[in-house]
Amino acid sequence: MKVLLTGREGQLGTALQTSLPEGITLIATGRSELDLADPAACRRAVGDHRPDWVLNAGAYTAVDRAESEADRAMAINGGAPQAFAEALAETGGRLLQVSTDFVFNGAQGSPYRPDHPLQPLGVYGATKAAGETAALALPGARVLRTSWVYGPVGKNFCLTMLRLHAAKAAAGDPLGVVADQVGCPTATHTLAAACWRAIGADSAGAAANIAAGNDPAATEGPRILHWSDAGAASWYDFAVAIGELGVEAGLLERAAVVRPLTTADYPTPAQRPSYSLLDCTASRIALGLEPLHWREGLVQVLQRVAAQGPNPA
Ligand SMILES: NC(=O)c1ccc[n+]([C@@H]2O[C@H](COP(=O)([O-])OP(=O)(O)OC[C@H]3O[C@@H](n4cnc5c(N)ncnc54)[C@H](OP(=O)(O)O)[C@@H]3O)[C@@H](O)[C@H]2O)c1
Repeated sequence: MKVLLTGREGQLGTALQTSLPEGITLIATGRSELDLADPAACRRAVGDHRPDWVLNAGAYTAVDRAESEADRAMAINGGAPQAFAEALAETGGRLLQVSTDFVFNGAQGSPYRPDHPLQPLGVYGATKAAGETAALALPGARVLRTSWVYGPVGKNFCLTMLRLHAAKAAAGDPLGVVADQVGCPTATHTLAAACWRAIGADSAGAAANIAAGNDPAATEGPRILHWSDAGAASWYDFAVAIGELGVEAGLLERAAVVRPLTTADYPTPAQRPSYSLLDCTASRIALGLEPLHWREGLVQVLQRVAAQGPNPA
Protein backbone atom coordinates (compact mmCIF):
# COMPACT_ATOMS: atom_id res chain seq x y z
CA MET A 1 0.00 0.00 0.00
CA LYS A 2 1.35 3.41 -0.97
CA VAL A 3 0.78 6.25 1.51
CA LEU A 4 1.54 9.92 0.92
CA LEU A 5 2.18 11.50 4.34
CA THR A 6 2.17 15.25 4.98
CA GLY A 7 3.61 16.95 8.07
CA ARG A 8 6.64 14.65 8.17
CA GLU A 9 8.42 16.77 10.77
CA GLY A 10 5.39 17.40 12.99
CA GLN A 11 4.59 15.58 16.22
CA LEU A 12 2.19 13.11 14.63
CA GLY A 13 4.18 12.82 11.40
CA THR A 14 7.25 11.81 13.39
CA ALA A 15 5.32 9.16 15.35
CA LEU A 16 3.74 7.80 12.17
CA GLN A 17 7.18 7.23 10.67
CA THR A 18 8.51 5.63 13.87
CA SER A 19 5.60 3.15 13.87
CA LEU A 20 5.49 2.46 10.11
CA PRO A 21 3.70 -0.86 9.56
CA GLU A 22 5.22 -3.48 7.29
CA GLY A 23 4.17 -3.40 3.67
CA ILE A 24 3.74 0.37 3.41
CA THR A 25 5.54 2.36 0.77
CA LEU A 26 5.71 5.74 2.46
CA ILE A 27 6.20 9.02 0.65
CA ALA A 28 6.83 11.30 3.60
CA THR A 29 6.62 14.99 2.77
CA GLY A 30 7.45 18.07 4.77
CA ARG A 31 7.08 21.73 3.94
CA SER A 32 10.11 21.69 1.60
CA GLU A 33 8.64 18.95 -0.65
CA LEU A 34 4.97 19.90 -0.55
CA ASP A 35 3.60 23.29 0.51
CA LEU A 36 0.10 22.63 1.84
CA ALA A 37 -0.81 26.26 1.16
CA ASP A 38 -0.40 25.55 -2.57
CA PRO A 39 -3.43 23.60 -3.86
CA ALA A 40 -1.86 22.99 -7.27
CA ALA A 41 1.15 21.38 -5.56
CA CYS A 42 -1.19 19.17 -3.48
CA ARG A 43 -3.03 18.03 -6.63
CA ARG A 44 0.27 17.46 -8.44
CA ALA A 45 1.63 15.31 -5.58
CA VAL A 46 -1.41 13.04 -5.83
CA GLY A 47 -1.14 12.84 -9.62
CA ASP A 48 2.60 12.13 -9.53
CA HIS A 49 2.57 9.50 -6.77
CA ARG A 50 -0.95 8.06 -7.16
CA PRO A 51 -1.08 6.97 -3.48
CA ASP A 52 -3.66 4.53 -2.10
CA TRP A 53 -4.06 6.95 0.81
CA VAL A 54 -3.07 10.51 1.60
CA LEU A 55 -2.50 10.74 5.35
CA ASN A 56 -2.80 14.46 5.97
CA ALA A 57 -1.01 14.97 9.30
CA GLY A 58 0.35 18.39 8.30
CA ALA A 59 -1.61 21.42 9.45
CA TYR A 60 -1.47 25.02 10.57
CA THR A 61 -1.60 24.32 14.32
CA ALA A 62 -0.77 27.72 15.88
CA VAL A 63 -4.18 28.22 17.52
CA ASP A 64 -3.59 31.78 18.74
CA ARG A 65 -1.65 33.00 15.69
CA ALA A 66 -4.45 31.75 13.43
CA GLU A 67 -6.66 34.56 14.80
CA SER A 68 -4.49 37.06 12.91
CA GLU A 69 -3.53 34.78 9.98
CA ALA A 70 -6.94 33.45 9.02
CA ASP A 71 -6.29 33.31 5.28
CA ARG A 72 -3.09 31.34 5.63
CA ALA A 73 -4.62 28.98 8.22
CA MET A 74 -7.59 28.39 5.90
CA ALA A 75 -5.35 27.79 2.88
CA ILE A 76 -3.46 25.07 4.75
CA ASN A 77 -6.22 23.51 6.88
CA GLY A 78 -9.11 23.90 4.45
CA GLY A 79 -7.49 24.25 1.01
CA ALA A 80 -5.08 21.30 1.18
CA PRO A 81 -7.72 18.68 2.10
CA GLN A 82 -9.95 20.08 -0.63
CA ALA A 83 -7.17 19.79 -3.21
CA PHE A 84 -6.29 16.26 -2.03
CA ALA A 85 -9.94 15.19 -2.14
CA GLU A 86 -10.40 16.56 -5.67
CA ALA A 87 -7.23 14.90 -6.98
CA LEU A 88 -7.93 11.59 -5.23
CA ALA A 89 -11.39 11.50 -6.79
CA GLU A 90 -9.58 11.27 -10.13
CA THR A 91 -6.92 8.75 -9.13
CA GLY A 92 -9.16 6.52 -6.98
CA GLY A 93 -7.13 7.00 -3.80
CA ARG A 94 -8.41 7.70 -0.30
CA LEU A 95 -7.81 10.40 2.31
CA LEU A 96 -7.32 10.30 6.08
CA GLN A 97 -7.80 13.85 7.34
CA VAL A 98 -6.62 14.43 10.93
CA SER A 99 -8.78 16.90 12.81
CA THR A 100 -9.39 18.32 16.25
CA ASP A 101 -11.69 18.64 19.26
CA PHE A 102 -11.56 22.41 18.60
CA VAL A 103 -14.28 21.97 15.96
CA PHE A 104 -16.67 21.89 18.96
CA ASN A 105 -17.57 24.84 21.18
CA GLY A 106 -17.26 22.96 24.48
CA ALA A 107 -20.64 24.12 25.76
CA GLN A 108 -22.28 20.69 25.76
CA GLY A 109 -20.70 19.55 29.05
CA SER A 110 -20.53 15.89 28.03
CA PRO A 111 -18.29 14.02 25.56
CA TYR A 112 -18.84 14.84 21.88
CA ARG A 113 -19.98 12.06 19.58
CA PRO A 114 -18.63 12.02 16.00
CA ASP A 115 -21.94 13.15 14.50
CA HIS A 116 -22.36 16.21 16.75
CA PRO A 117 -22.76 19.47 14.78
CA LEU A 118 -19.59 21.51 14.45
CA GLN A 119 -19.45 24.89 16.19
CA PRO A 120 -15.84 26.06 16.37
CA LEU A 121 -15.03 29.00 18.61
CA GLY A 122 -11.92 30.28 16.85
CA VAL A 123 -10.25 30.57 13.45
CA TYR A 124 -8.16 27.41 13.90
CA GLY A 125 -11.24 25.32 14.68
CA ALA A 126 -13.15 26.92 11.79
CA THR A 127 -10.38 26.09 9.33
CA LYS A 128 -10.17 22.50 10.58
CA ALA A 129 -13.95 22.20 10.26
CA ALA A 130 -13.67 23.42 6.66
CA GLY A 131 -10.97 20.79 6.07
CA GLU A 132 -13.28 18.07 7.37
CA THR A 133 -16.10 19.13 5.06
CA ALA A 134 -13.76 19.29 2.08
CA ALA A 135 -12.26 15.89 2.86
CA LEU A 136 -15.64 14.20 3.32
CA ALA A 137 -16.71 15.31 -0.16
CA LEU A 138 -14.52 12.39 -1.28
CA PRO A 139 -16.54 9.20 -0.69
CA GLY A 140 -13.43 7.25 0.34
CA ALA A 141 -12.25 9.80 2.90
CA ARG A 142 -12.12 9.44 6.66
CA VAL A 143 -11.75 12.13 9.30
CA LEU A 144 -10.03 11.27 12.56
CA ARG A 145 -10.46 13.85 15.33
CA THR A 146 -8.13 13.92 18.28
CA SER A 147 -7.28 16.19 21.21
CA TRP A 148 -4.40 17.69 23.21
CA VAL A 149 -1.64 15.97 21.23
CA TYR A 150 1.81 15.64 22.80
CA GLY A 151 4.83 13.42 22.38
CA PRO A 152 8.56 13.18 22.95
CA VAL A 153 9.41 15.64 20.14
CA GLY A 154 8.01 18.89 18.80
CA LYS A 155 6.30 21.83 20.41
CA ASN A 156 3.81 20.64 22.99
CA PHE A 157 2.42 21.25 26.47
CA CYS A 158 4.29 18.32 28.06
CA LEU A 159 7.77 19.41 26.94
CA THR A 160 6.97 23.04 27.81
CA MET A 161 5.79 22.02 31.29
CA LEU A 162 8.94 19.96 31.91
CA ARG A 163 10.99 23.09 31.22
CA LEU A 164 8.74 25.31 33.34
CA HIS A 165 8.65 22.86 36.26
CA ALA A 166 12.45 22.87 36.35
CA ALA A 167 12.73 26.66 36.09
CA LYS A 168 9.95 27.50 38.59
CA ALA A 169 11.06 24.87 41.12
CA ALA A 170 14.62 26.21 40.98
CA ALA A 171 13.37 29.78 41.52
CA GLY A 172 10.88 28.71 44.22
CA ASP A 173 8.01 30.15 42.19
CA PRO A 174 4.60 28.57 41.59
CA LEU A 175 3.55 27.49 38.10
CA GLY A 176 0.13 28.86 37.12
CA VAL A 177 -1.94 26.63 34.82
CA VAL A 178 -5.54 26.88 33.63
CA ALA A 179 -7.84 24.54 35.55
CA ASP A 180 -11.22 25.27 33.96
CA GLN A 181 -10.62 23.73 30.52
CA VAL A 182 -11.18 19.98 30.41
CA GLY A 183 -10.21 17.57 27.64
CA CYS A 184 -8.00 14.55 27.18
CA PRO A 185 -4.26 14.45 26.49
CA THR A 186 -3.35 12.11 23.64
CA ALA A 187 0.11 10.66 23.17
CA THR A 188 1.44 10.67 19.63
CA HIS A 189 2.27 6.96 19.69
CA THR A 190 -1.33 5.92 20.46
CA LEU A 191 -2.63 8.43 17.90
CA ALA A 192 -0.25 7.07 15.25
CA ALA A 193 -1.48 3.52 15.94
CA ALA A 194 -5.08 4.70 15.49
CA CYS A 195 -4.20 6.41 12.19
CA TRP A 196 -2.53 3.32 10.78
CA ARG A 197 -5.49 1.22 11.91
CA ALA A 198 -7.91 3.73 10.36
CA ILE A 199 -6.41 3.10 6.94
CA GLY A 200 -6.26 -0.66 7.52
CA ALA A 201 -2.50 -0.59 7.23
CA ASP A 202 -1.26 -2.33 10.34
CA SER A 203 -1.06 -6.09 10.47
CA ALA A 204 -4.03 -6.53 12.84
CA GLY A 205 -6.17 -4.20 10.74
CA ALA A 206 -5.15 -5.91 7.52
CA ALA A 207 -5.71 -9.37 9.02
CA ALA A 208 -9.18 -8.38 10.17
CA ASN A 209 -9.99 -7.13 6.69
CA ILE A 210 -8.69 -10.22 4.97
CA ALA A 211 -10.67 -12.42 7.42
CA ALA A 212 -13.76 -10.39 6.53
CA GLY A 213 -13.07 -10.87 2.83
CA ASN A 214 -12.29 -7.18 2.30
CA ASP A 215 -9.48 -5.56 0.42
CA PRO A 216 -6.96 -4.70 3.18
CA ALA A 217 -6.53 -1.26 1.64
CA ALA A 218 -10.23 -0.55 1.91
CA THR A 219 -11.23 -0.63 5.55
CA GLU A 220 -14.89 0.14 5.88
CA GLY A 221 -16.55 1.61 8.94
CA PRO A 222 -17.45 5.03 10.26
CA ARG A 223 -16.25 7.95 8.18
CA ILE A 224 -15.69 10.18 11.22
CA LEU A 225 -13.58 8.71 13.99
CA HIS A 226 -12.72 10.05 17.43
CA TRP A 227 -9.45 9.08 19.02
CA SER A 228 -8.00 10.30 22.31
CA ASP A 229 -6.38 8.50 25.19
CA ALA A 230 -8.82 7.50 27.96
CA GLY A 231 -9.92 9.58 30.94
CA ALA A 232 -10.29 13.33 31.36
CA ALA A 233 -8.08 16.11 32.66
CA SER A 234 -7.77 19.85 32.99
CA TRP A 235 -4.56 21.48 31.85
CA TYR A 236 -3.86 21.90 35.59
CA ASP A 237 -4.26 18.13 36.20
CA PHE A 238 -2.00 17.42 33.24
CA ALA A 239 0.66 19.86 34.50
CA VAL A 240 0.60 18.33 38.00
CA ALA A 241 0.99 14.82 36.53
CA ILE A 242 3.87 15.96 34.29
CA GLY A 243 5.65 17.25 37.41
CA GLU A 244 5.06 14.10 39.50
CA LEU A 245 5.80 11.61 36.75
CA GLY A 246 8.68 13.75 35.41
CA VAL A 247 10.39 13.35 38.80
CA GLU A 248 9.73 9.59 38.74
CA ALA A 249 11.17 9.36 35.22
CA GLY A 250 14.34 11.15 36.37
CA LEU A 251 13.65 14.16 34.12
CA LEU A 252 13.13 16.61 36.98
CA GLU A 253 14.89 16.98 40.32
CA ARG A 254 11.67 18.29 41.77
CA ALA A 255 8.32 19.56 40.53
CA ALA A 256 7.11 23.12 40.97
CA VAL A 257 3.95 23.83 42.94
CA VAL A 258 1.18 24.14 40.34
CA ARG A 259 -1.36 26.89 40.99
CA PRO A 260 -4.80 26.62 39.33
CA LEU A 261 -5.77 29.56 37.12
CA THR A 262 -9.03 30.39 35.42
CA THR A 263 -9.27 31.05 31.70
CA ALA A 264 -9.98 34.67 32.61
CA ASP A 265 -6.64 34.81 34.49
CA TYR A 266 -4.78 33.71 31.35
CA PRO A 267 -6.28 35.51 28.35
CA THR A 268 -5.27 34.27 24.89
CA PRO A 269 -6.13 35.60 21.41
CA ALA A 270 -8.17 32.46 20.60
CA GLN A 271 -11.10 31.31 22.67
CA ARG A 272 -10.83 27.62 23.56
CA PRO A 273 -13.59 25.11 24.36
CA SER A 274 -14.00 24.66 28.12
CA TYR A 275 -15.00 21.00 27.78
CA SER A 276 -13.94 19.17 24.64
CA LEU A 277 -13.85 15.49 25.54
CA LEU A 278 -14.36 13.25 22.52
CA ASP A 279 -16.63 10.24 22.89
CA CYS A 280 -14.38 7.57 21.39
CA THR A 281 -16.51 4.54 22.27
CA ALA A 282 -17.73 3.68 18.76
CA SER A 283 -14.40 4.50 17.15
CA ARG A 284 -12.44 2.29 19.54
CA ILE A 285 -14.71 -0.62 18.66
CA ALA A 286 -14.50 0.16 14.94
CA LEU A 287 -10.71 0.38 15.08
CA GLY A 288 -10.38 -2.61 17.42
CA LEU A 289 -7.97 -0.71 19.65
CA GLU A 290 -7.91 -0.72 23.46
CA PRO A 291 -7.61 2.76 24.93
CA LEU A 292 -4.71 3.68 27.17
CA HIS A 293 -5.40 5.97 30.14
CA TRP A 294 -3.74 9.36 29.54
CA ARG A 295 -1.59 8.99 32.69
CA GLU A 296 -0.16 5.72 31.36
CA GLY A 297 0.37 7.38 27.96
CA LEU A 298 2.24 10.15 29.80
CA VAL A 299 4.46 7.63 31.60
CA GLN A 300 5.37 6.11 28.23
CA VAL A 301 6.08 9.50 26.62
CA LEU A 302 8.27 10.54 29.57
CA GLN A 303 10.20 7.27 29.28
CA ARG A 304 10.82 8.10 25.62
CA VAL A 305 11.95 11.62 26.55
CA ALA A 306 14.32 10.15 29.15
CA ALA A 307 15.68 7.63 26.65
CA GLN A 308 16.31 10.44 24.15
CA GLY A 309 18.42 12.41 26.67
CA PRO A 310 19.81 14.89 27.44
CA ASN A 311 17.26 16.13 29.95
CA PRO A 312 15.08 18.65 28.03
CA ALA A 313 14.45 20.52 31.29
N1 LIG B 1 -1.29 19.52 18.60
C1 LIG B 1 -2.48 19.32 19.12
O1 LIG B 1 -2.71 19.50 20.33
C2 LIG B 1 -3.61 18.80 18.26
C3 LIG B 1 -4.86 18.57 18.86
C4 LIG B 1 -5.90 18.08 18.06
C5 LIG B 1 -5.69 17.83 16.71
N2 LIG B 1 -4.47 18.10 16.16
C6 LIG B 1 -4.30 17.82 14.74
O2 LIG B 1 -3.40 16.73 14.62
C7 LIG B 1 -2.63 16.86 13.41
C8 LIG B 1 -1.16 16.75 13.73
O3 LIG B 1 -0.83 17.79 14.63
P1 LIG B 1 0.63 17.92 15.24
O4 LIG B 1 0.47 18.18 16.70
O5 LIG B 1 1.50 16.81 14.79
O6 LIG B 1 1.07 19.28 14.56
P2 LIG B 1 2.53 19.91 14.40
O7 LIG B 1 3.49 19.24 15.30
O8 LIG B 1 2.34 21.39 14.47
O9 LIG B 1 2.90 19.50 12.91
C9 LIG B 1 2.26 20.06 11.81
C10 LIG B 1 3.19 19.92 10.64
O10 LIG B 1 2.58 20.54 9.51
C11 LIG B 1 3.58 21.25 8.84
N3 LIG B 1 3.09 22.36 8.04
C12 LIG B 1 2.54 23.52 8.47
N4 LIG B 1 2.29 24.32 7.41
C13 LIG B 1 2.70 23.65 6.31
C14 LIG B 1 2.70 23.95 4.93
N5 LIG B 1 2.24 25.12 4.44
N6 LIG B 1 3.18 23.03 4.07
C15 LIG B 1 3.66 21.85 4.52
N7 LIG B 1 3.69 21.51 5.81
C16 LIG B 1 3.21 22.41 6.70
C17 LIG B 1 4.48 21.78 9.92
O11 LIG B 1 5.72 22.13 9.38
P3 LIG B 1 6.65 23.22 10.09
O12 LIG B 1 7.18 22.48 11.31
O13 LIG B 1 7.65 23.53 9.06
O14 LIG B 1 5.74 24.36 10.47
C18 LIG B 1 4.55 20.59 10.86
O15 LIG B 1 5.58 19.71 10.50
C19 LIG B 1 -3.06 18.20 12.79
O16 LIG B 1 -4.06 17.96 11.84
C20 LIG B 1 -3.67 18.96 13.96
O17 LIG B 1 -4.64 19.89 13.52
C21 LIG B 1 -3.42 18.55 16.90
